[in-house]
Amino acid sequence: MKTVSVLKINQRNKKMANILILYSTTDGHTTKICNRLKQEIEKNANQVTVVAVETFRRLDLPSFDKIIIGASIRYGKHNKLIFDFIDSNLQLLESKASAFFSVNIVARKPEKNRPETNPYMRKFLKQTSWRPNKLAVFAGRLDYPKYNFLDRLMIRLIMWITRGPTDPKAVIEFTDWQKVDDFAQMVSEMQREGSHAETDG
Ligand SMILES: Cc1cc2nc3c(=O)[nH]c(=O)nc-3n(C[C@H](O)[C@H](O)[C@H](O)COP(=O)(O)O)c2cc1C
Repeated sequence: MKTVSVLKINQRNKKMANILILYSTTDGHTTKICNRLKQEIEKNANQVTVVAVETFRRLDLPSFDKIIIGASIRYGKHNKLIFDFIDSNLQLLESKASAFFSVNIVARKPEKNRPETNPYMRKFLKQTSWRPNKLAVFAGRLDYPKYNFLDRLMIRLIMWITRGPTDPKAVIEFTDWQKVDDFAQMVSEMQREGSHAETDG
């Protein structure tokens, strides 16, 4: 009888993780991905807090069981604030189950949509010593009408070079939402022990 009740407590503890998703976005698509992750992870009875990196100082970081960081790419770079956060909280990140995902338009290409094949994820791993338990890469959104003249011009040029859509009216969401849901499931299940960069997305 005693063994059974201990098992029940363990199962309950495992399910009720307190999870932080910290993100950086420019046009809001990473926020949308974070909210979808929250919705899916909370189906597993976890509690999820989604916060933009600009406002993290108000958080009690040690109170979270798991930390997920997500960032989009703009002109080849993840937001510097993400690196500042990682540098300032490296020890804390390494003491918890953690994950990182990158959102970029290059990932629309099947041969560049995995952590080991996506140039921005590879670059990210060279820029930091943090080794999250899980990694994922999600294709982002293209919204030409929303961009200012210069950004539209530049992205169209990049798209032309990489054989992507160049119609200035194009609005295309390349994100594979099933992949986002699968990542949510993995994050729900991930544990601190046996850590380090399994590449899942
Ligand atoms: C001005 C601008 C520059 C971008 N630069 C890149 C880039 O260098 N490489 C890339 O793969 N995607 C690039 N993207 C695509 C974004 O990463 C993609 O649109 C993503 O969904 C943006 O997410 P966010 O809305 O959360 O910022 C760029 C988009 C914009 C608007």
